[in-house]
This record gives sequence, structure tokens and C-alpha cells, in this order.
Amino acid sequence: MKKTENQMLIIFGASGDLTARKLIPAIFNLYKGGDLPDNFVVLGVSRSDFGDLNFRNKVVLESPYLEDERKEHDQAFIQKFADKLFYEDLGSDYDTSYERLEKRISDLDQKYGTNGNHIFYLSTPPSLYEPIAKNLSDQGLNDESVGWRRIIVEKPFGYSLNSAKELNDGLHTYFKENQIFRIDHYLGKETVQNLLVTRFANSIFEPLWNRNYIHHVEITNAESVGVEKRGGYYDKSGALRDMFQSHLLQIVALIVMEPPLSADAEEIRNEKLKALKSLKIMTDEKTLYENTIRAQYVASKIDGKEVKGYREEEGVDKNSTTETFAAIKFFVDNWRWADVPFYVRTAKRMPTKVTEVVIHFKTPHHQIFKESGINNKDNKLIIRIQPDEGILIKFGVKVPGQGFEVERANMDFYYSSLTETHVMEAYERLLLDAMQGDATLYARADEVEAAWAFVDPILDYWKNGKNVKMYGYSAGVWGPENANDLFDGVSEWRNPSENLADDPGYCVIC
Ligand code: BG6
Repeated sequence: MKKTENQMLIIFGASGDLTARKLIPAIFNLYKGGDLPDNFVVLGVSRSDFGDLNFRNKVVLESPYLEDERKEHDQAFIQKFADKLFYEDLGSDYDTSYERLEKRISDLDQKYGTNGNHIFYLSTPPSLYEPIAKNLSDQGLNDESVGWRRIIVEKPFGYSLNSAKELNDGLHTYFKENQIFRIDHYLGKETVQNLLVTRFANSIFEPLWNRNYIHHVEITNAESVGVEKRGGYYDKSGALRDMFQSHLLQIVALIVMEPPLSADAEEIRNEKLKALKSLKIMTDEKTLYENTIRAQYVASKIDGKEVKGYREEEGVDKNSTTETFAAIKFFVDNWRWADVPFYVRTAKRMPTKVTEVVIHFKTPHHQIFKESGINNKDNKLIIRIQPDEGILIKFGVKVPGQGFEVERANMDFYYSSLTETHVMEAYERLLLDAMQGDATLYARADEVEAAWAFVDPILDYWKNGKNVKMYGYSAGVWGPENANDLFDGVSEWRNPSENLADDPGYCVIC
């Protein structure tokens, strides 16, 4: 097990939702698991007029996100954790002098022996990343002559290729690339990491992992919720920016990449970069028209309850053309994957919450059991990222009795069967990695830019292209029915559950 050095975690945006909902519970889990170093403090920083005690109350002692933990553990144990937390009010603006902040950090550092090791976690709007980095640098807080300094930034990382490059350039003015940790919480999910292990720790999959045996690859990321309270943010972002450019292309990179030389962070990230650069960028309108579909959920009734359409959501423009469903077909321009189509979709307000990768294998070259009824039941490897995390192989078995009737059987593994094992939450794992300086599960600057390079022309086409349609799908169904057209009649999306609303069709909104 790697050693975690004494350190201080400074969270910008500490009064925000992410801190209370994800970050502090993740740190609490590390505390519970004995994974925090002996000397460790958290300094929350934001513009709210709090003191240490208010902050501890908000994110620990009265936090709804730690309610179960408070019931489970005694008061002294919880209080000991809360006492590790401090708060510094920045006043009205993040873009201000950090002289006072520097003094506070240095006082805490001396008092609690955190050895000058600091992580700055930026849980703020991205527009503040560069000003915060500059203000930290003005106080020498990026200087690693005494202790190390790291900065973690949340997604979205940029809004387009250009803005991502600008952001990278801006951060690189003050921090070196090896100090910057770009978080993508999907990489913290156990099953996403297991993609690497499935492929490279077994000898049975990799020989088949190519165009000779794989017919197509399908990835579904579905959420049953709508945009909830985030309409304002989401309407400027949309499914492609919010989920596809980051989380889903990271998954794609892990499927597409070549075996790395070792499990070293740079070796893995080099291969992921190569994979992302090999995605065939679609530029002409015809290709974009034929291979991309966007849609918005419209009002429907689920279980007799009215569900709002996207345009009726709080913070969303009544005439919005932001997609809540995106389905993209694309190819990978390299030796391993030539001509194998990849189908990736992501959406809100689907029948259920699920993320899965399905590797569809080709039909056996020569069919012996022609009358077996096995047509269209080719082998599939299903990697279930969430929920019911696990792996399933669908293969043909003989139905007992005369003749050779073949049926599909499942061979499966579920993480829940490992009852003894504590499966870390994504943020818990990623924070611990950053605390130990391991960047394997963080996205590097060039990876993020390569992902944007693929996504940019699609966004541009959806915004400015001719003949671009916005389809509508009823909240609670598996997207617009015509999303199956991407498969050209050869196959269709695998929907892991039934539609919830009665109207599975689609309409053209604009
Ligand atoms: C976030 C997106 O990155 O991921 C959200 O901004 C989305 O819109 C969320 O709901 C999904 O994460 P998870 O882990 O619940 O699949």
C-alpha cells in the first residue's frame, strides 16, 4: 500500500453542494478506513461568511449526507473528524489577494504539521480556475521548494477545443502539468478501472479484442433524472459536453487503447491519448447528419404522474435547442479497429439509471446449428459500470433434449458478491490517489484536448449545420425511436429495461 504523506486539502467552493455531497463524505470514508495520514487538515475556502464551527456543522455535524454515519458512530469519533476541518472566508470575490489565505494556510501548516504539502481542490465554476491559480501563485503557493503543491480541477474542462486549450495554457502559466489533476469521476468508478484489468490481466479477451472478432461496440449511459436544479448550467452545456466529451470518451479510450508498457500513469495516459487521437473526426455535413442524433425529453406521464418536458424545467430557455439525448456512431482509424462501428448514447429522463458497455462479437464464421434459433444472438460481453456493477458474458448453450437447439446463457460476476471488500466511492478513490500523487485516473491536458477535437465538429454542426433536427422523446422512454437508424437495420440499441411511458415514439421538435 502506498504511503500518504501528511498534508492539507484546501477546498475552494467549500460552501457549495459538491463539497457537502461528495467531497466531505469521501474524506470521511478515508478517515473511517484509516487512509488519512496522521497529520491532515481540510481548509474550506469560499465567499460565505462562515467560521470553522459553522463549516463543521454544515458539512459534518448537521450534514444530511453524513446522517447515517452519525447514527453509526459515536459522537467522539465524528467530532474528531469534524475537528480536522477549518474555514477561511475570502470575502466577496475569489479574484482577490490571497495574502490572508496564505497566512492561514501557513499557520495551520505549522500548528498541525502538514509539512508544506498542499492540494488545492477547485470546486468552483471553471471561469475561476485561472484567477485562482494566479492568485495562489502570487503568494508562492504553487512553489514546491518546501513540500509539494497540487491542484485538482473539476469538469467541465473547457467548453470547446479552444477554450480547453486556453484553460490548459492558463493553468500551465502557474502550475506544471504534473501538479494538475483533472478529475473525471467516472475514472474513479471501480468498473471503469476494471476495463483495464479485464483486458490486460486476462489472456482470453485481448486476442479477440479487435476487428476480426468484434462486430460493434455499444455504450449506453442513461439517467432517469432530468436536469433537476441544474437547468441553468445544463442548458449551456447539453449531453454531449456534460457527459460524452468527458466521461464517455474516457471509457471509449479504455476500450480502444493498445496495451500499455506498464501500469505506470504516463504509460496508460500515453495509450489513452493515442486512442483518443485515433477516433475518426467527422467533419462533412453528410457524415454528421447520418451519424449523430440529438433529442430533448418532452412532457409525459410516468406511473400516472405528470413529468415536465426539458423546456419547462427551471433555468431552461423555453426555446432551448440544448440536447438531453445524444447518440453518436463513429469509427476508429487504426489497425485494430478499422471498420468497427462504435455506438455511444447518453441521456437524461430515460427509464432507468444505467451505464454499460456492450461488446458485440461477430457471428461464428461457419454456422453449423443453422436451425437452432440462435440467429441474432451473437456473443456479447457486457460490462456493467452501474448499478449492479459487474461483468456478464452471453454465450450459446445447448437446450437439453433431442437435436441442437441453442439458447443464450449468462456467465456473470457481480461486485456485490465480494461482500468482504469495501468498494471505494469514486471521489474517495480519486482523492486518495491525488493525495498520494498518483495521476493514473486523472485526465492529462493532451487527452482532454483530443476529446474536444473529436466533439467540436459535432457541436458546431448541431449549432450551425443545415438539416439538423432536434427530436423529442417522452420522458421515461429509451430516447427517440429513430436513434435505431444509426444501426442501418443491422442491429439496434440494447435497452436494459422497459419503457416507463406509453409513448415510445418520437417527434421532430425543430
Ligand atoms: C456529471 C454530470 O458529471 O455526472 C451530471 O454533470 C450527471 O449531469 C452525473 O448527472 C452522472 O454521474 P453518475 O456518477 O451519477 O453517473
